[in-house]
Parts: sequence; C-alpha cells; structure tokens
Amino acid sequence: MKYGHFDDRSREYVITRPDTPLPWINYLGCQAYFGIISNTAGGYSFYRDARLRRLTRYRYNNVPMDFGGRYIYLRDDQSGQFWSPSWQPTRNELEDYSCRHGMGYSIIGSSFTGIEAHTRYFVPLDETLEIWQLTITNHRATRAQISSFASIEFCLWDAQDDATNFQRNFNTGQVEVEDGVIYHKTEYRERRNHFAYFACSQPGAGFDTQREAFLGAYRGWDAPAAVEAGQLTNSIAHGWSPIGAHQVKIDLAPGETRQIVFVLGYHENPVDQKFDPPGSQTINKISVKPVIAKYLDPVEADAAFEHLRQYWASLLGIFQVDTPDIHTNRMVNIWNAYQCMATFNMSRSASFYESGIGRGLGFRDSNQDLLGFVHMVPARARERILDLASTQLATGGAYHQYQPLTKRGNNDIGGGFNDDPHWLIIGVSAYLKETGDWSILDELVPYDNQPGSEAPLYDHLQRSFHYTLERLGPHGLPLIGRADWNDCLNLNCFSDTPGQSFQTTTNKEGKVAESVFIAGLFVHSGRELAAIAARRGLNAEAAAYLTEVAKMKQVVLSHGWDGEWFLRAYDDLGAKVGSKECEEGKIFIESNGYCVLAGIGLDDGKAAQALAAVHDRLATKHGIVVQQPAYSRYYLNLGEISSYPPGYKENAGVFCHVNPWVMIAETRLGHGDQAHDYYSRINPSAREEIGDLHRCEPYVYAQMIAGPDAPTFGEAKNSWLTGTAAWNYYAIVQWILGIRTTLDGLQIAPVIPKSWPGFTATRIFRGVTYNISIERQGEGEQISLTVDGTPIKGNIVPPPADARRKVTIKGILS
Ligand code: GLC
Ligand code: GLC
Repeated sequence: MKYGHFDDRSREYVITRPDTPLPWINYLGCQAYFGIISNTAGGYSFYRDARLRRLTRYRYNNVPMDFGGRYIYLRDDQSGQFWSPSWQPTRNELEDYSCRHGMGYSIIGSSFTGIEAHTRYFVPLDETLEIWQLTITNHRATRAQISSFASIEFCLWDAQDDATNFQRNFNTGQVEVEDGVIYHKTEYRERRNHFAYFACSQPGAGFDTQREAFLGAYRGWDAPAAVEAGQLTNSIAHGWSPIGAHQVKIDLAPGETRQIVFVLGYHENPVDQKFDPPGSQTINKISVKPVIAKYLDPVEADAAFEHLRQYWASLLGIFQVDTPDIHTNRMVNIWNAYQCMATFNMSRSASFYESGIGRGLGFRDSNQDLLGFVHMVPARARERILDLASTQLATGGAYHQYQPLTKRGNNDIGGGFNDDPHWLIIGVSAYLKETGDWSILDELVPYDNQPGSEAPLYDHLQRSFHYTLERLGPHGLPLIGRADWNDCLNLNCFSDTPGQSFQTTTNKEGKVAESVFIAGLFVHSGRELAAIAARRGLNAEAAAYLTEVAKMKQVVLSHGWDGEWFLRAYDDLGAKVGSKECEEGKIFIESNGYCVLAGIGLDDGKAAQALAAVHDRLATKHGIVVQQPAYSRYYLNLGEISSYPPGYKENAGVFCHVNPWVMIAETRLGHGDQAHDYYSRINPSAREEIGDLHRCEPYVYAQMIAGPDAPTFGEAKNSWLTGTAAWNYYAIVQWILGIRTTLDGLQIAPVIPKSWPGFTATRIFRGVTYNISIERQGEGEQISLTVDGTPIKGNIVPPPADARRKVTIKGILS
C-alpha cells in the first residue's frame, strides 16, 4: 500500500494521508540552521549542533509518537471548532490532506469545513532562521471568522540537559515580548550571547509564552486551553517552560485567500553588545530587527524560497541521468543525492532515530559520506577532510568521532577502530578524483588538534597506511582492534556486564583477533594511495605500497579464503569467524563484498565463487543480509553482533550500507543484471508499493531492513542518516552506470542490465559539462567512445585541452 506518490517534476514526494506508518520526515536548512520536519509538522530546530544549540523541544520515543513541532491551529470563531491543518496535533478528519516534502522545504496542509490551509516551511540560504508561510482560503459560501494560532515550545539550548535537569531548568526560563515578537532568552543574562525569536507578520490578537497558560494544566498539544477558548492570554514565562504562541484573527470573504508569515530564528550578539541600553538586562535587538522585518514580508519570503530552489537545482544538476528505470532515475537525480547532502549536514546526529544528543561526526562515516556529496559541494568536502584529518592521532589511528561545534576528537569513545584510518585515504582520493585539487595534500594539518604537530595532509595518508602494517596479527592479517566497519563485531570486548558499552569496553589486548575485511580495505586504499604517490612523482614509494598490497592479497588468499568464500575474521582465540566451520555466522557480506570490490580473486575465480556464495546464502528479496545463519544466542567472544535478536541490525539484518559493495563487486565481474537487481531490491522508490511492510519513507534509504530471521522481514528502520546514501549513490552512478571519476579524467565504463538499450546522462566535471549517451549494440561491456565525434582509445575521457566547456560523449556497448 502507498501513502503518497512521487512528483518528480517538482522534485517532491507527496504524502496524501497523514497516518504514515512512521513519521516521514524531511530536513530544513543546509548550512548552519537546521530542522527536521515530519509529514504532520512534528520535529525541531537547532543551530549547528543538535545537542548544544537546540531551539525547540522534541520528546523522542513519546506517545503518541512524533509530538512536538511547528504547530498551527485554526479556530472557527463562530462555531468554536478548532483543528490543525497538518493533522497533528489535533488529528481531526481532514479533507485533501497533503504534505509535499521537497528539496529543503515542506508544504503541509488540508481543508476542513471549507477552510483550506497550507504552510510552507523552509530555511532561507545564508540565514539562521526558518520561515512558515501560512496560506488560508475560504471556500465557504459565507464569510469566515478564523483565529489562527502558531506555536512552538522552546528548548533551553542544551537538549540533553533540557531533558534531565529539571531542578535547575524550571527556574531559568526567560522571555521578552516586544513589538509582537517573542524572544527566548534563557541564560542570555549570564554566559550566552544568543537568543531565539518567533515573529508574526500580522498584528497579533494575543500571544503566550508560558506553556501552562497556553495548554492548561494536565492538557496536551492536541487541545490547548487557550485555543479552545479562542483567546491567548499574553502570558510571560518565568521559569517552567517557555513557549512561543501567536494568535491572529482574520475575517475572510467567500473565496478570499490570506497569507500570514511566521519567522522562527536564532541570533547572536557580540558579547560586549548584548544589552540595550548597556547595563540593562534587555536584549539588544538592533541587528536582529531588520532580519525579522525582511522575512516577514511575503515578497522577500517568496524570493528566498526561489533562491533555495535554484540552489538545489544547481546542486542536483551536476549529475542527471535518464535510464529505462524510473526508480534509478528519481533516486539518482533527486532523492539519493539529496539524502547524501543530509548525511553531509547531519552526519548521524539528528533524525527520527538519532536524537541529536548522541554521536558526533564519525571518522569512518564522514569519510565514506564524501563519496556521495563531493561532486556537489567540493569546497565543503575539502573543509570536512581537513577537519577529519585534524582528529587523526599521531599513530595514524583516529578518534572514532568528533564534535561538530568544537571539531575536537571525542574522548568518551576514543579510538582503536582499526579500519578508521583507511577511510581517510578513500575520502581524500575521492576528493582528488573529483576536483583535481592536488593542493589539499600540502595543507598542514595537526594530529589530535595539537598545535605544533602540523604535517601535510599527505603525511596523514602515509600514517593511515602504516597504521595497519604496524598492527598485523598472527596470520599477517590486520588486527581488528575494537571493531572494523562492523561496529558490532567486538572480538576483544568479552563483555558480561549489563550496560557496558560494546563500543568502548575492551577486555583483551587485541593481539590476536584479525579482520579479513580490513585486509580488503587495505588492498583498496593501498592502491589508491599508490596512485596518489605516483602522481606526486614518488615512484619508489608507490611501488612499496603496491608491494605491501600484493603481500596482503596473498595473505588473504592463503588465510582469508574459506574454500567457497572469504572468511570474515579470526577471533581472540584464533578461531575462524564467517567460516563453514562455524555453527552460526558461517558467511558474512563485508569481507566478500569488499575483497572483490578491491579486486581480490578476480583472476583465479575466487571472486566469482565468493559472489555466488553471497547470492545463494545471503541475498533475499529485500536485500542482502550481513551474515548467515543469524546468531541465535549471545556469544561472549563476538560481542554486540550477537546481542541483537536474529534478523535485526548487524545480526543478519539487511544492512543497506554494505549492499553496494556487492553491487560494485558484481560490476567488476561484468554482471550488470545482478548488480542492478541488488540495487533495486533496496531502492526505496522501488519499495514504495510495499509501504505497509517497509514502513519508512519511500524516498530515502534506511540503514536497515529486517532480514528473513526476523518476524518482520522486510521492515526498514533508521532512515536518512546512514552510509547507505553515499554508497548506493556511488555504486549506481560510478559502477553500474559507470560514469566514474578518476585522477586522469572521466571514465565511462557502464555495466548495465542487458535489457537496457542504453541511457543518457549529463555530468558537470571540473567545470566541463559532459553530455553522455550510451547505446547498447551487443550484450557485453566493451565500450567504444567518441568524444565530440572523434573516437578515443580506452574509456577515460581526459579534460579538454582547449577551452571547450561542453563535450559530447557517445559510447557504444558491445
Ligand atoms: C552504523 C555506524 C557505522 C558502522 C555501521 C555498522 O551505521 O554509523 O560506523 O560502520 O553501523 O556497524
Ligand atoms: C550500535 C549499532 C551500530 C552503530 C553503533 C554506533 O552498535 O548497532 O549500527 O554503528 O551503535 O554507536
């Protein structure tokens, strides 16, 4: 069953019933001010850091679910009836409900008793505020007297403290109301120099800033007492829970439409200019007032919206494709690229599943995310790389996470995840291939943010590589440390104490447990590094890397091959993990996908054998699971992976992040049909029809789909913030469609389904627009290319030697 439909022309997903199985969200903001917004206007806003600068309050895991948001109420002042056009929080029976989630905006609304109302929510570029444009139309035959109420609940900034420290927080809340604008200034009197504000374009008929005055004691957002009564009370918050609520009365003739604009924003003042007059306790509003006035003007608001639309059109315009498969097209052209930008902006911090108070930016996650967004925001990718590298340790290892506000490594979780350093090489390599900006390698970057430790970024890559060589185990495979990519395969943890963190508890020194996955990753990143070294003229160094890569490949073939597939690891006792000798967890996806992706076993049949085993043992109609058989009980020597009930998360769930490794691996063997088939199994658009089973948004990937061992096989969880976005984008664009960035230019090497007659694409690459058309004339993957009519050798199109900025590439597959 479907809960809406795609509107590809408008780049929107249109939800047509409000009671989606889970809140289906969207993101507002793309620079410094952000919000999440659900299809019923739930969600919250923050400035830069979802934990430390939370503007509005949200209660996770609440009942009813998804409560707290940007709520608008309308009240018929003749009958006294009131409702919310976004369904929540009042949940009336609405007509023509729709929520259009678009690129950086959402439009939510409906009709009720002849009154149509829609609100467009978005964050203008280069501003730290959000605009709500409420449009109300009277479709009745008679005049309508309507009160409209807009409301938010302020968070007292630190979302963690806000949810726990009530003995303090019930005393600190403060507001000011001036010229109809509500200012939230809790803690402004002391060390903060920032405040929030909530403003309305129309003269107000009342306001409230104290939650209890608005809602009434023991009442909820579904029936605020002041809305029911039809009159806000002009309350001023002193402690307790400051809110912002505005009331506007409108009298609408039949057919008349009116717009009201609300602006919710964040503002900082210089520390020595906080108050006006100086010495008072009143917020200095000199610099904020013009901003508020500007965006309350509907003409300015419309212009800001148009600007935002153009921004997204230009980002998405960098790569567009037209294939015979509509699901491929809309994910590549719109939603997958958009999701990649969300993972860039949010990392894993704020979604319906990530509470904004948990993790910082992951070292491994953020480096992999680069694969999906580097072409859209190369300058910001550059900055991200340098930030990440600054949290690398002098050993070459890395802090597993860092805080976006401070850009410092996170001590609580520390380091010791032995795959981490290699993702930096992969990320930097992706950046170089996209931009050709070799200067990044000479940037001086500190280790562990320590002044004095600065070294060229290239030095960081060298240390990343050596980190593994200095940490080899008994078979010559890389030691796993706390964990590799699979955070839940904790071979040195041995935790028997409830509540201990599998991520940080390490009970073994870790001199035995080895990872075949890291070996595959090493082979891949080592080749990338060798190519970079060669480009720098360091031929001996490049050759040395390739020697180590060749050795590692040999070690994998001798000690990492289980007979029919690649082993996953050796545990602390030296016993095999992911082997036919194991009772459970006989075969894993990561080592098989990654070793083949890295090219191991391509020449001796092992790669094909491994992928056949993945196909036969791990692939399901809902995607490829992590391992089989699932762990049916807790294993002390394996850790968190066995803590999950079978079929969920890392214990034999379909972890969508790693499925693309197998897709890429399949393309390396020329299996376009198989690669695209795997791609389609987890493509959210292709799963739209099974919305009741899938349950998450059909326009973005979820981290996980329950595997066949789970009672809810096929059910997705944890949508939006997952490495799945980048890897699927990378797999379809660069390996299946085969439009691949290389150090030497754009490579065209499609491995597409046999039934496709071809496809066309546009790619803006290093300032040149390439119009690409691929035509299939035979069933194979041999390609012959002409560039602006001239045949070229090979499949790499070098940048034009002349001033051409538009290039036509034609490819014939035979
Ligand atoms: C989560 C983590 C990621 C990890 C994966 C597998 O997605 O963010 O770092 O690799 O789980 O455990
Ligand atoms: C849990 C999750 C894993 C995630 C990790 C991050 O282990 O299962 O997916 O990477 O938490 O802290």
